[in-house]
Order: sequence, then C-alpha cells, then structure tokens
Amino acid sequence: MDTRRTLIFSAVLLATLTSAFVEELDDSFLTTRTVDDSWIIKFYAPWCSLCKQLDPVWHQIGSELKSLGSPVKVGKCDATANIGLAKEFRVKGYPAILMWKKHLKYNYSGPRTRDAILDFTHRVSGPVVRSLNSLQIFQHAISRHDIMFVYVGATSPLKGNFMSVAEELVVHTHFFSAARDVLPKDVSLSSLPTVLLFKDTTFHTYTEENDGDLRSWVNRERFPYFSKIDSFALYAMGESGKLVALVLLEERSLCEESERLKDLLRKVTSEQRHMYSRHFYFGFMTGNDYIKGLIMSDVIEPSFVVVNLSNDGYFLPHVPVKTERQLRDFLDGVVDGGVQCQGGNNVVQRIKRLIYEAKAMLTLLFTQVPLLSFFLLSFPLAIAAAFFYLCCKPHK
Ligand SMILES: *[C@@H]1O[C@H](CO)[C@@H](O)[C@H](O)[C@H]1NC(C)=O
Ligand SMILES: *[C@@H]1O[C@H](CO)[C@@H](O)[C@H](O)[C@H]1NC(C)=O
Repeated sequence: MDTRRTLIFSAVLLATLTSAFVEELDDSFLTTRTVDDSWIIKFYAPWCSLCKQLDPVWHQIGSELKSLGSPVKVGKCDATANIGLAKEFRVKGYPAILMWKKHLKYNYSGPRTRDAILDFTHRVSGPVVRSLNSLQIFQHAISRHDIMFVYVGATSPLKGNFMSVAEELVVHTHFFSAARDVLPKDVSLSSLPTVLLFKDTTFHTYTEENDGDLRSWVNRERFPYFSKIDSFALYAMGESGKLVALVLLEERSLCEESERLKDLLRKVTSEQRHMYSRHFYFGFMTGNDYIKGLIMSDVIEPSFVVVNLSNDGYFLPHVPVKTERQLRDFLDGVVDGGVQCQGGNNVVQRIKRLIYEAKAMLTLLFTQVPLLSFFLLSFPLAIAAAFFYLCCKPHK
C-alpha cells in the first residue's frame, strides 16, 4: 500500500476511534439516558474558540476513561442546536462542563486541563464519602490531599447532614468517614460523633457553636490557608466569604525582595494562624491582570493587597510593607477598620472599571496593531463627522 493510502487509512481509523470515546449528544438524550449511567458532558457552541481548544483535551479524557474501564461516559453537545439539553443543564456560557450522576448535576469550574478534569470526574463519580478502613489508608489519603473532611463516629443525624453536604460539595473537596481507632494517636477527640478538617499539617474539630452550620463551614474552609493563587482559585475563594491577603509577584524569575516578602507572609500567617485564619486566606499571585483590573492601575511588584471578593473591594497598606510589624499592622487594620476599603461594586466603581478596561483594550490594540486600530477607529469617526456635516449644513 502506498504511504498516502496508509496515512488516510490511519487518519480515518483514528477519527473513528476517538469519536468512539466521545459521544455527540442531542436533545433525544434526555429521554434515552438511563439513570444508572454517569456522564461528563462538554457543552459547546460552534463559533466558540475556547471550546475548540478543549477538543483535544476532551478526546484524551474520553480515551483515558475508557481505558481505565470507568463507568463514566464522555459526551459533548452543541448547546446552540440542542436547546432542550442545554436548558436542562442551565448552560449559560461556553464551554460548560457538567457531570450528570443519577439525579444530580455537578458544575465543573476548575482549570480546563486533562488532569484537573479527570480528578474531578473520579471524585464525583465514586462514593461521595469514602471510608478509611485502616491507618495506612488514612495516611495514604492525607499524603495525597491538601484538604480532607472526615466524619468520625457511628450513624447519627450529624452523619446524615455530612452526607448531604458531601453530595453537594464533592465538586470542590474530599469527604471521608473513619472509625476512631483508624486515626493517628495524636488526633485527640473529646466526643463522638464529630467532623474533622485536616489541612495545612494540622486538624480542626467542627462544632456548631463556633463554626455555624456544617455546609457553610465546609464552604468557608475548603481552601488551603496559604497557597499559590491563580485567577480561578481567587474567583472560587469569593464563595468562602473570607478576605484574601496576597503578595503580588512578578511573572518571571522572582527578585530577592519578592522571595523575602513571600517568606514574610508565610511566616507571619503560620505563627499567627489563630488570629487571622477566621478572616483571611493567604497566598501569592503572579500575573496580576485581575488585580490590576480591580485596582484600576498598575501594581507594584512585589507588594501586598487584601481583596474582598464579595464586593470587589480592596485594601492597600498606608506605607509599603517591609517588616513583620508592618504586615501585622496592615492585617490588623483591615480587620478593625483602621485601613479603609477602596473600590467596591457600586455603580460609580463599575462605570470607572468599564472605562478602565476599554482604555486598557485600546492601548493594547494601538501598541500591537497601530495602523489597523487607527483605521478601525477613524472610520466610524469619519462617518459621524460626515453625518454631522450633512445635518448641520445650513439649508439654503
Ligand atoms: C452551573 O454554573 C452556572 C454558572 O455559575 C450556573 O448559571 C448554572 O445554573 C449551573 N448549572 C447547574 C446545573 O448547577
Ligand atoms: C466584604 O464585603 C461584604 C459584602 O459587601 C461585607 O459584608 C463585608 O463586611 C466586607 N468585609 C470587609 C472586611 O470589609
């Protein structure tokens, strides 16, 4: 066989194989689907370029799940042509990734990478609460997960509550159950049943009096206390209702001062955890476009900022923070009101932000493709000028 024929043959074979991993779904799926099947579905629009970028990832996920013998099927659906299905999943933007398991639907909102999506699929498709049967299994789990919520004790109303919280929030974090004697000796418990949170090499015991209802507590505490934060994580952290204290770092190699400020934040926050963990999450961030948009000016790197994601507010230190004392004064000021909140999401701020973004966009256009931008802008202006000229010309 000549090479061209072989090539075409392999291409056709490959296309058939990959399409076998991912099923194209339409509205009829709503009636043909059997309840016992779990699906992960990508909703796309034909014109959406982000959706196209996701195609290879989606095929990898399809083939990976198939080769693992996973019970989860992989589908995709043109949401513009299949309104019924898109409506059922309340799809509002593209691409949307949703998991359908029994009667429950789960929204995926993390990074759109193969590993992150596979991790989500495994977590959601299995039992939402996994049991830890031995100390070894416990230790294996804790070495793999930064954050774990663990129910300890016999059947109880608290367990029922824990199960239903897990069913809803398993999209975000990991839930387990364990018998008392499975846990390491240094985990001391005053009473059972209880819910424990393991994170940042320590643990916390949930109590309703101190922590409020279980669901909001899990939602509030499901992030690491100190971490590298990207815009996905920052956006998600908004749901916790806590403030996020950040050190903003330059995108590429960090200068000495950046390393120093990062260490300073890590040190202060780990030593003063009892003071700050109620109010803040901490972390460092590189590539600060989101923060620039929020503050509406360029940011100095490295520097500190605290953001309130519930209202798009932010706090800046009065003096540049260089020392431990200054950092603590700044954080204390944010908590007790000594440092004023700026920004926010009122109408004036929103208009200002719109103008800022339009300006940033135009500047970018003019620096990247100056000639084209000039024509694009001058064309409507010329028409407007001609229009005014014709309208305002004195009639004879
Ligand atoms: C998924 O998230 C989007 C955006 O937050 C929301 O509009 C939609 O209703 C959610 N869908 C489901 C099934 O929860
Ligand atoms: C953050 O914003 C929310 C919503 O507007 C507000 O209730 C809360 O008090 C703010 N937190 C701080 C510390 O300003």
